[in-house]
Amino acid sequence: MLSPDLLHEAADRFGTPLYVYDAAELDAALGRVMAAFGEARVFFAVKANSNLGVLRRVADAGLGFDCVSYGELCRAEFLGVPGERVISNGPAKSQEEYDLGARLGVTFIVDRVDEVGLLPPRSRALVRVNPALQISTHDHLATGSAASKFGVTPEQVPGVLGALRDGGHRALGLHVHIGSAIRDAQDFTAAYERLSELRGQTGPLEVFDAGGGWGLGADLAGIAREARHAAAVFDAQLWVEPGRYLVAQAGVLLTQVIGTKCTGRNFCLVDAGMTELIRPMMYGAAHPLTPLWQREPVEAWDVAGPACESGDLLARGVPLPQPRRGDLLVVGEAGAYGAAMSSQYLTRSRPAEVLFGNGEWRVLRRRETPEDIWQAELPGRFSPHER
Ligand SMILES: Cc1ncc(COP(=O)(O)O)c(C=O)c1O
Repeated sequence: MLSPDLLHEAADRFGTPLYVYDAAELDAALGRVMAAFGEARVFFAVKANSNLGVLRRVADAGLGFDCVSYGELCRAEFLGVPGERVISNGPAKSQEEYDLGARLGVTFIVDRVDEVGLLPPRSRALVRVNPALQISTHDHLATGSAASKFGVTPEQVPGVLGALRDGGHRALGLHVHIGSAIRDAQDFTAAYERLSELRGQTGPLEVFDAGGGWGLGADLAGIAREARHAAAVFDAQLWVEPGRYLVAQAGVLLTQVIGTKCTGRNFCLVDAGMTELIRPMMYGAAHPLTPLWQREPVEAWDVAGPACESGDLLARGVPLPQPRRGDLLVVGEAGAYGAAMSSQYLTRSRPAEVLFGNGEWRVLRRRETPEDIWQAELPGRFSPHER
């Protein structure tokens, strides 16, 4: 994390709430991933942080992009990332995604049997397999469980690979992504083993894509060893798609205390909440909170945002020194799925995003204005795609 002095400086210069990224942390995470997965092709899951400034840095480090929407593919195109370094993923792709993906020459991840018939001619494709396991994460983050909408069953794999080849496509291999923020590395081992069992039916393949989902502090070397082993079973090249691991610790959300309220519970009201960071509300995610003030006494506080929603809480029962209006609170591990999931609900402007690197600040996204938010509602400002 950047020093308290630098964070105070950022709040003074750019205001709060504010996403602050540390270039050195980002580079360190990139370095850890490259060291563990050296020979693999690494595709950054753009959904985790789609800011162009962050993406440019990731692309410059040689990573490809894993895109899950038309807009994310547009970002890849805008940055000039070559198609062979782009994956198009998602359970229900739009025609726009197929058309742009074809133009860019991306690799499509086939997520269901009838998607084969929708692919553009002569596509490169991987088949996403759902191993239907118990996954050690929040239900909404588990994609490799039987109840999840993602992927085809292991039994469907030979048929889908055959259909791809019959359809004139290049069936590169298999893909598995079992979820996000996974706590138990054994889940990856189990998933890779389930896929490896298919080797007798698939024969050798060009690519084994082991997905992402690595929790912070995960045993990266261990996960890499298992993934490499599975790729070797298929005589395939290993691909991976990390998101959170690469960017979460490089970012914090800086928020300011608006006031306090003691009504049986102690509420510390801050200027960021569910519209800036929805993970606590959506997944019960616990983000580390660091107060940039010291005072007595230290008591348990519920940290609540400004939205008119009773679920708008960043955390409950956190030990904090007595807060005062204007104090700064740092919400850690917010570089992934933070700004990317922020919303304009309540016509709240999405925060600015700034990066500190080489001793200077760069604004990666200016704070939105209310006018930015209603732009698309003004007559004559509809997009050319409007039907
Ligand atoms: C297909 C796919 N790949 C990779 C990721 C990245 O996951 P994470 O950010 O947990 O590494 C995701 C995110 O859920 C995903 O949906």
